[in-house]
Amino acid sequence: MTLKVMTVFGTRPEAIKMAPLVLGLEQMSCFESVVCVTAQHRNMLDQVLSVFEIEPQYDLDLMSIDQDLYDVTASVLLGMRDVLSEACPDIVLVHGDTTTCLAASLAAFYQNIPIGHVEAGLRTGDLQAPFPEEANRLLVDGLSHYHFVPTQRAKQCLLSENISESRVFVTGNTVIDALLYVRDKVITYPIVRWQQLFGLDLFERIMSARRFLILITGHRRENFGQGFINLCTAIKVLAQRHPNWDLVYPVHLNPNVQRPVRAMLSRLDNVFLIGPQEYEAFVWLMQRCDLIVTDSGGIQEEGPALGKPVLVTREVTERPEAVEAKTVMLVGTDSGKIINSVEQVLLDPAMYQSMSTAHNPYGDGQAAACILEVLQRMSHSSNALKQFSIQRPKFNINM
Ligand code: UD1
Ligand code: UDP
Repeated sequence: MTLKVMTVFGTRPEAIKMAPLVLGLEQMSCFESVVCVTAQHRNMLDQVLSVFEIEPQYDLDLMSIDQDLYDVTASVLLGMRDVLSEACPDIVLVHGDTTTCLAASLAAFYQNIPIGHVEAGLRTGDLQAPFPEEANRLLVDGLSHYHFVPTQRAKQCLLSENISESRVFVTGNTVIDALLYVRDKVITYPIVRWQQLFGLDLFERIMSARRFLILITGHRRENFGQGFINLCTAIKVLAQRHPNWDLVYPVHLNPNVQRPVRAMLSRLDNVFLIGPQEYEAFVWLMQRCDLIVTDSGGIQEEGPALGKPVLVTREVTERPEAVEAKTVMLVGTDSGKIINSVEQVLLDPAMYQSMSTAHNPYGDGQAAACILEVLQRMSHSSNALKQFSIQRPKFNINM
């Protein structure tokens, strides 16, 4: 019997992290794969769909410029009502902690469709940081039947919330699958591709062995306003103090990010504000750079896997594993602290060496295979189904 699995995602990072699963589902005859994108992100999502050659069966196409949390939540919930009624999947897979993830889970719950939460169990313990993601993932874990967690720590978080161990599966993070897949592709591309993409001046700086390259990203809601002003101040000071360093910043399309970044950093010779990069180009940049400064969740996981030190411009992280492994450092959003930390890492060879050789705690690139194996087992195991129906008697699951 085939299991009809619907994957639902809407933003760039969800798409990157769900892509290995979608590709796997499409290849295995025991599954019928249905992809639904909400397009909470439009351009940044389409970039990823094209890299992984994914063609969704459903596209809610809901993004609007300057959308707020109410807009996205309401549009996903209403859009998913009709999609789920028409497609009738056996299970819905959602990812992480976005509004798409929360609202799609709620929509599936309303139709008694079991939910598998990929990248479950991440917690900071602070509902305000990240906002609203910490609340989203708590709520989604409360609604989910299967929890695919990246690490033992994430599993412990769920167990401490009284989620049954039989429903929690430690799989590693699918971002490592996606990263290794794309890294191996990118290695085969001729170098001239990057020269054409970035232009001669930036390309030569990226390739120069005599200059340090710092890669920067940022988009967290809790950093809007003063947090971004502080980050930009730090970038400006570093750029002026170190003319032989280059700072490359692919700026997120959120207007709350574009406005301060472009206003404060547009006129510096060694600061390059570029658009969001396709995943392949971004992976190439991560490989070429010396240091990453970011508030991103995914990049905190990718940097360590590529042996790059990562400074995280947040006060708290739900990914403490790499901080404990000493490859990621939490630096907050104080300008002085960001400046000192960047200089400390780049100017102290011993520190640089130790941060760039620490191990990656997020898996070996087999996370999607692990998740698919669990789903396959579930679909064939009458015991698992029995257990499932005891816990959720009202759910009607046809596996
Ligand atoms: C969202 C997620 C966040 C995730 C991040 C990844 C929520 C609440 N937030 O935040 O968890 O880490 O994505 O990047 O779910 N925009 C475009 N084109 C795009 C994408 C965004 O123009 O392709 C602009 C639009 O003006 C849009 C705005 O960015 O309204 C904000 O997008 P939204 O998804 O609401 O928030 P993010 O900050 O991207
Ligand atoms: N990324 C990308 N292009 C960029 C910047 C980031 O492809 O210009 C990738 C990055 O490698 C990672 C993901 O996007 O896999 C992270 O997305 P983001 O930081 O927007 O979201 P988060 O991970 O914080 O939810």
